[in-house]
Amino acid sequence: EYIIQNETLIPKKEATVNLDDRGYYFGDGVYEVVKVYDGSPFAMDEHIARLLSSLNKLDIPLAFSKEKLVELIHSLIEKNSIENGLVYFQFTRGVEPRNHLYTRESTPVFTAFTQAAQNLEDIQKNGIDVWLTDDIRWLRCDIKTINLLGNVMVKREASDNNCHEAILHRSGTITEGSSSNLFLVKDKVLYTHPATNLILNGITRQLIIDLAKRHNYSVVEEPFPVDVLEHADEAFISSTSVEIAPIKAVKGQLSTTFEIGQVTQDLQLKFKELLP
Ligand code: PDD
Repeated sequence: EYIIQNETLIPKKEATVNLDDRGYYFGDGVYEVVKVYDGSPFAMDEHIARLLSSLNKLDIPLAFSKEKLVELIHSLIEKNSIENGLVYFQFTRGVEPRNHLYTRESTPVFTAFTQAAQNLEDIQKNGIDVWLTDDIRWLRCDIKTINLLGNVMVKREASDNNCHEAILHRSGTITEGSSSNLFLVKDKVLYTHPATNLILNGITRQLIIDLAKRHNYSVVEEPFPVDVLEHADEAFISSTSVEIAPIKAVKGQLSTTFEIGQVTQDLQLKFKELLP
């Protein structure tokens, strides 16, 4: 198994981390997760655009060209013979003695690895339970940073309560999942939080919104309160790794159940048609 360190493919066991990497001390870096279908990375342009936007928002320069980045990722997928799986890649701000104040003089450190795909059949068909809890994250959730403590804490809390995902609310307004976006369906209309600083604008979310509109569903991107969950017909989460997973039940601060509805199933089918 190979990984990429900076601009080189090396065996995973030869990889090293510098103790003075700001990613290690401060979580000072950004990442992307891209799905690989039939050996090719899906929605690569959109993921690269979001990566550049995250880097830009954090004042981290791109260490090498966009073309080089794409080429490196393709070569890793090929080297590890990934047919269906994920590729993870990140840039940290780089290596310098620990100091909150960064100098703008370090060279960003690039790392990438691949993973085989998990079997999604069960969760896509039968759905998941989710845990409603407080959104304890910072106010720049639009940046796909590797600093994920809030996400990590609520994911553990969800799992300890036998739920697959945490659904978050900030003072009563639903934002998103710990590693996914949330959609509700009511009378065939889709509802989801707008792409503000309070959520990560998922690539899957954006694809679903386009897809839904092209198939004449209305999509409302507005903040909505927690109790709307009780009135929705259907609910689902979306992300690169799960694509679309229906929600069976909400637990925690509010309890409610959903049927696995027609709109969710229709969007699942249409999403599959987008894939290579
Ligand atoms: N997570 N919101 C959050 C907080 C996320 O971490 C993710 C993705 C999403 C969905 O984004 P996308 O559709 O672009 O994957 C929304 C990735 C998969 C992860 O951290 O593993």
